[in-house]
Amino acid sequence: MRSLWRYKVMLLEHWCTMAKTRKGKKEASSWSKEHSLVMESSYATPAITIIRGSGCYLVDVDGKRYLDFLSGIATNALGAAHPDLIGAVTRQMKRVSHLSNFYGNPESLKLARELQLMIGDDQARIFFSNSGAEANEAAIKISRLTGRTRLVATTGSFHGRTMGALSLTGQDKKQRPFRPLLKDVKFVPYGDLKAMKRAITKRTAMVIVEPIQGENGVIVAPVGYLKGIQERCAETGTLFAVDAIQTGVGRCGSWFGWDEEIAPDLITVAKGIGGGLPLAATIIRGRSPHFSPGEHGSTFGGNPVAAAAANQVLATIKKKNLMQHALEMGSIVKAEAAKVEGVLDVRGRGLLLGIVLERPVAKEIVLDLAHRGVLANATSENVIRIAPPLIIGKREVSTFTKALAESLNMRMRAS
Ligand SMILES: Cc1ncc(COP(=O)(O)O)c(C=O)c1O
Repeated sequence: MRSLWRYKVMLLEHWCTMAKTRKGKKEASSWSKEHSLVMESSYATPAITIIRGSGCYLVDVDGKRYLDFLSGIATNALGAAHPDLIGAVTRQMKRVSHLSNFYGNPESLKLARELQLMIGDDQARIFFSNSGAEANEAAIKISRLTGRTRLVATTGSFHGRTMGALSLTGQDKKQRPFRPLLKDVKFVPYGDLKAMKRAITKRTAMVIVEPIQGENGVIVAPVGYLKGIQERCAETGTLFAVDAIQTGVGRCGSWFGWDEEIAPDLITVAKGIGGGLPLAATIIRGRSPHFSPGEHGSTFGGNPVAAAAANQVLATIKKKNLMQHALEMGSIVKAEAAKVEGVLDVRGRGLLLGIVLERPVAKEIVLDLAHRGVLANATSENVIRIAPPLIIGKREVSTFTKALAESLNMRMRAS
């Protein structure tokens, strides 16, 4: 009886909300309240609720327009509502939206071929899934097929939140509540090649590393680091896995985000490849063993709509030369942001950049930027991460740096 009463109250609240929304009267604060009433508390309640977007701009429920310098955390490579992407997804939706792995589909085959071309290896094989964590889970399972169980990862790394991927995520705070995790994981300081070489032995199944640690504040691997790891892996028969989930798909000026001559055994890609649709890939090659039928799977992996979106993202990146564009825009942002008073350093590559502040005010500045209509995010107390769509132009760069300068200036004057 009580639960029926509760249900009726909830329904009434919901109707009121919907009615207000239709009239456009609902305030931002009531959306936040609604969020906290229905969404699991794994995320902080967002202060902004977005309803639409176009290109580099998003619009919230109140009609306020934002310059999007985060793109769904390095994901919306072509920005919002890109006409090419809408066309590709709509065409595929009209044909068939989902099949499962019982049937092949031309879009996922085309995408797998594209990924082979990107890595320059027609012997590479592709396993499709839906998220970065899943792509890394597939890599972990592949590593078990070597007959070894030991893994090496880096401190400060981020490889996802599922139990396997979390086991490789070198952040105590994220791991602590969920232990025990996979037990044979050794963490070494990121960028320390000597420590890495010592940690890799003939009993190590796989090493996983990011070309740039995005979640850890955009920390770039030192020159020669990835190559050095690859050499040690070759000596010990260890699989060399590179997590290109945040750096990949053109964001850092190349397909995977590294700028050394390397050929990893496993590469994981997600985020940008689907242009906003959930798609991830584990590229399996080199010394790597392969799954036998039935050893791994995913209902939605390689879904034709997501694959059609990804094919379009790759085609548009090539057609518009967006990798080169990302490098050019990135270097302008770097130069302009570095001039702003209160900025200590700007690090990163292409359009994955970390703006290091002199003072621990990054969170406040990000809030203030949102107030000024610019979206970015703080990875720590003193680092603002930006990962805008690859289509930004000089106008957007100038809007961003101007807002950053004004915001920091105001903050500095206040203290
Ligand atoms: C480098 C890296 N690996 C893995 C992941 C996990 O991806 P997802 O959130 O899609 O599971 C992320 C997400 O931020 C990431 O940046």
